[in-house]
Amino acid sequence: MAIASLPGLAFAALVLAAASSAASAAAPVTFIFGDSLTEVGNNNYLQYSLAKSNYPWYGVDYVGGQASGRFTNGRTIGDIISEKLGISSPPPYLSLSQNDDALLKGVNYASGGAGILNDTGLYFIQRLSFDDQINNFAKTKQRIQSKIGEVAADKLCNEATYFIGIGSNDYVNNFLQPFLPDGQQYTHDEFIDLLISTLYQQLSRLYQLGARKMVMHGLGPLGCIPSQRVKSKNGQCLKRVNQWIQEFNSETQKLVASLNGRLPNAKLIFADTYPAVLDLIDNPTTYGFKISNTSCCNVDSNIGGLCLPNSKLCSNRSEYVFWDAFHPSDAANAVLAEKLFSSLFSATLSPAPAPSP
Ligand SMILES: *[C@@H]1O[C@H](CO)[C@@H](O)[C@H](O)[C@H]1NC(C)=O
Ligand SMILES: *[C@@H]1O[C@H](CO)[C@@H](O)[C@H](O)[C@H]1NC(C)=O
Ligand SMILES: *[C@@H]1O[C@H](CO)[C@@H](O)[C@H](O)[C@H]1NC(C)=O
Repeated sequence: MAIASLPGLAFAALVLAAASSAASAAAPVTFIFGDSLTEVGNNNYLQYSLAKSNYPWYGVDYVGGQASGRFTNGRTIGDIISEKLGISSPPPYLSLSQNDDALLKGVNYASGGAGILNDTGLYFIQRLSFDDQINNFAKTKQRIQSKIGEVAADKLCNEATYFIGIGSNDYVNNFLQPFLPDGQQYTHDEFIDLLISTLYQQLSRLYQLGARKMVMHGLGPLGCIPSQRVKSKNGQCLKRVNQWIQEFNSETQKLVASLNGRLPNAKLIFADTYPAVLDLIDNPTTYGFKISNTSCCNVDSNIGGLCLPNSKLCSNRSEYVFWDAFHPSDAANAVLAEKLFSSLFSATLSPAPAPSP
């Protein structure tokens, strides 16, 4: 989780100030973009989407024990970070009416199956790509303007925090699928160039719409998720996939640095979650888990790897790092959120690291 850099520290100071301000002051506003790792129910509103989790056993450990459209047994990392910031987890964009006052408090645009590229996850029929999500944010901004006026809307958007976690599906549900064109058409270097140049346009557009404080999450070691392990001989991690992900992360980190240099007052941070997730998978017992090479829900990867209502669950869901073939369990999300939170928000509490020579 080595994300501490000077812009990161300055950013942490800003968010921390917002988070710890008096109860009378406005609570921090967060806008969340991403895929099934952060979705809180947008796809439930897409009639034909096949990327849905609105059935048991999803949500079995969420408040009320009901499926909500989250792709885990309990909370997402975003839910847990929101709890720590003392705010409620922002609602799905598609659940809000045009004039909803909730738009002023933060919105979640994430959609299972979505990617950086439009054609990622195309076999899910419907999902909101990152471009769709940014379009929805642009609409949100217009509605905020009509509610509170242009000056106040600009201020709200400039001061909000934007969490972005996208790209896993560009691998899992695009480049790594032998029957889709991108993996055949492009070498991995070409594919990364396409992803990063697209991401450059997308983050620049968010900036033009008023985003200044953006947290761009890197990708986890996708070669070690259960849906990829089953493709190996003995259930091990796919090394080549993990190498590709590390290249993507390193290019994204460079992109973030270059945007910080180029866009006035931009404070983007790259949150490198890869090492933390890999450590959890490599050393589950250190964190109180028992199993990290297969999922709690006994899924069939041949038919999608989601936890279907007739699937059998493990006897103790806190012992498994993975809930289904793709997504961490609530217990794993709690560990990862804790690490992310302390790296993002506690930097100001410890002395700044000495700059390396
Ligand atoms: C996705 O499609 C939209 C509308 O067709 C287009 O404006 C946009 O540039 C496309 N984005 C990508 C990443 O291909
Ligand atoms: C997971 O690891 C355990 C212990 O190393 C092994 O016995 C088991 O077969 C592995 N499971 C899978 C699905 O690879
Ligand atoms: C389930 O596993 C967790 C983590 O190992 C442990 O703390 C807890 O006691 C277990 N619960 C039961 C009912 O065995």
